[in-house]
Formats: sequence, structure tokens, C-alpha cells
Amino acid sequence: MLKSSSLHSSCNLFRCYCTIVLWTILSLIVVSGLYGQNHPPPDTVAGIPVNYDQAKVGSYTLPNPLQFVNGKQVTSPKQWFQIRRPQIQEWYKEDQFGHAPGRPSDMAFDVFDEGTPAFGGKAIRRQVTVYFSKDKSGPKMDLLIYTPANAQKPVPLLLTPDFYPNSSMVDDPGVKRGKMWNREHKRVPAPKSAKFGKINVPMLLSHGIGVALVYYGDIEPDFSGGIKYGIEGLYLEKGQTKPGSDQWGAIAAWAWGLSRAMDYLETDNMVDSKHVALMGISRLGKTVLWAAARDQRFALVIASCSGEGGAALSRRNFGETIAHLTAPSRFPYQFCANYQKFAHHVDRLPVDGNMLLSLIAPRPVLLQTGNKDLWSDPKGEFLAAVDAGKVYRLLGKQGLGTDQWPPAGKPILHTIGYYMHNGGHGTVPSDWNIFIKFMQRYLVKN
Ligand code: GCU
Repeated sequence: MLKSSSLHSSCNLFRCYCTIVLWTILSLIVVSGLYGQNHPPPDTVAGIPVNYDQAKVGSYTLPNPLQFVNGKQVTSPKQWFQIRRPQIQEWYKEDQFGHAPGRPSDMAFDVFDEGTPAFGGKAIRRQVTVYFSKDKSGPKMDLLIYTPANAQKPVPLLLTPDFYPNSSMVDDPGVKRGKMWNREHKRVPAPKSAKFGKINVPMLLSHGIGVALVYYGDIEPDFSGGIKYGIEGLYLEKGQTKPGSDQWGAIAAWAWGLSRAMDYLETDNMVDSKHVALMGISRLGKTVLWAAARDQRFALVIASCSGEGGAALSRRNFGETIAHLTAPSRFPYQFCANYQKFAHHVDRLPVDGNMLLSLIAPRPVLLQTGNKDLWSDPKGEFLAAVDAGKVYRLLGKQGLGTDQWPPAGKPILHTIGYYMHNGGHGTVPSDWNIFIKFMQRYLVKN
């Protein structure tokens, strides 16, 4: 009796405890949801004030992609490709992302999964380790590729650099479990699922688009001091502890890794390597823009919330600025050291977001932003796209085709596309409908 009553009361206690835990979790979810949506963004970051008032962005003059330094205009595609474009690209290397090496002569591909049915027979999966040098224990990257099982010819493909190893990004138990850098900067086995959602491989395949993934941390870690573990470390000269002030930061390293993935894709006869698109979010949005700007083999780009240092205009004082981005406690290692010189002198930067987009012309580029993601300055991305339109027009394309900033939920899908979802930073599942539409228009049907 005594036993059962104490059991009963301990059961009650346990129930009570569970209810409290459940309610705490539920209220945390609700509160964090509200926080994500409605909480005002911080007004100071790294000790630097942040402006969120469109009336206070200040006045600025954008560098003109179609005007030579001597004031003359670029008037032909030939002048653009032979003179002006290389010059702008050089400025980006010198002052923002840093110079990167070319393709390593001793790079090797180990195709350890040559073609296995996956996703209930809908896909053929390939897995490749790309060794960046002869030393197999040195930096290397795993590339995961899916093509539709019913494809009759090489398919267009979407390549994405991701924040999680490939095995966490797809629902496929056959993928080699990767390793990732944790918060303590240790390389640990990948979790089962990525925190921000997986890639819907069957959906892309059903539209005739193949999918390839790489984990950005395989190329270069995303933390200050990570150089010694990544590709940048491999290229340090004797006595150098960090790259020179005009040499690559992490974004250039990730972009370089995407070019190495392309090197492999060019050898894969199930992939139409002339129709390979890139998609990346946030810092990886900056990365895919730079990857396509430096490597014309990429046919189309989708950059989600690339923000400052990506498509957003740095000369607009709105949301994040170069000063915030390069503050010592934040992300200076993602850029070349020279970029910091412009933290308080943005007017002296020879480039801006409009020029980054112009380097991609005439290839299609879609900017996806969020109306609640003020930090990334969705309007600044739009204005960069408007200005880059003049280079697209010179090259016979339409560009964005409007200078009216559309409201959230209204996509513009011209050769330059712009889509602001109703929400915050990153992508939401419904964005993928827009991405697929854009790729169908410019990648699959071209
Ligand atoms: C920070 C950073 C942004 C970057 C983002 C991300 O918010 O300030 O510039 O785009 O991280 O990569 O998630």
C-alpha cells in the first residue's frame, strides 16, 4: 500500500515535472518565434551603431562599372570583357576577397561511390573525395552528386556549399558520414540533420535538375585562426603565419573550392557542366557571388541574403557595414586584410555590390532577401541589381528590368532576379519554388 502510494505520488511528481518541462519548451518556442519575427534588431554591434532608418542611409556615389578610370565609357562587350571586367575583378582580389591560387597540379579525385540508386530509385548517387594535394592527409573535400535516374542525357545541376557536412544535408542513409567543425573548433562527426533544414533532392530531380553538395568546412574552417587547418594553410609560404594582406580570406577559399568541385563536374558525363548553377545562403551567398564572378564556368547564381560584402551596397549606411563585418571580434578572416582599410572609408573602396553583380553578367543571377532581414539590407541588394542592369544591357540582356523595389512576395525573374520573401534571414521552403522557376527558365530550357 505504502509502496503503491509512494509510487503513485512519484508518478504524479513525474507527470507534473513533464508538464512543466513541456510548457517551458513550448513557451520558449513561441517566444523565440516572436523574437525572430518582431524583436527589434540590435542597435549596436561590436560597439558600432547600426542604422535601420532608410532616411538616414546618407548620400553616396556608386562606382560606375561602365566607366573607365579616365572617365571614358565602356561601349562594347569586347571592351567590357577584355579591359573593364578584368580591372574590376582585380580590385575585388586586391581589396575585398583576396587573390587565390589556380587549380593545384597535383589535385586528385577519388570516386568512391560510382553510381548507386538512391531516393527509392529516383536518383543515381555519386560520391567523390577531392584531394587538394598529393598528401592524402591534407585538406580534402567530399562532393556528393545526384542525377535523375531516368535522365537520357547529361543534366543541368545545382551545386550548393553548405554549413553542414553532406550527410546532414540530405535524407539518404547511403551518404558517407562527414565531419564538421563544432563551436569549440574541433572536428567532430556530423549530426544526423542540419539545423536549418535539408535539401529536397527528389524535388529538384523531378524538375530535371541534378544536385551536388560540398561542406564549406572541408575547404576552410569558418573561424578566426582556422587557417592552419584549411586550404589557406596549405598555401602559406615558409615563415608565413597568415596570408598576405591582398591574399585570400575564407570566402575566397570557399569560392575556390567550388571551382575545384566544377573541375570534377566537368569530368562527369552525367552532368551538363555548361549548365551548373550555384546557390548559397548568407556568407555562402557572398561566396557563390564571388565564385561566379571569378569563374565563368558557373552558368547561374542564386544568392540568399548575401548582404554586406555580397550584393548589398556598402555605400549605404543601412544594417551591417564593412566596419561591423571586419571588426576584430567578428569576420575579418573571411576577407583579405586590405578590406579593413575601408571600414571607415567606404567611399574609397573602388568597388561595390553593383560591380560584384556586373562581373556575373550576362549570366542569370537571382537575389533572394527577406523583408525582416534588415541586417542584410534587402533594399541595398535591390539597388545594386538595378545598377548592374546597365552591364547586362550592354551584353544584350535585360537585367532587372525595373527600378521599383517590389514588396515582399513579388518575384522579379528577369536575367537579374530579385525576390524578397516575407520573413527573416536565410531561405524558407517556399523560396525553393521561386529558385526552381528561375532555374527552369534560364538553366534547364537554355
Ligand atoms: C553574420 C554576418 C553576415 C553574414 C551572416 C551569415 O550575420 O554579419 O555578414 O552574412 O552572419 O553568414 O549568416
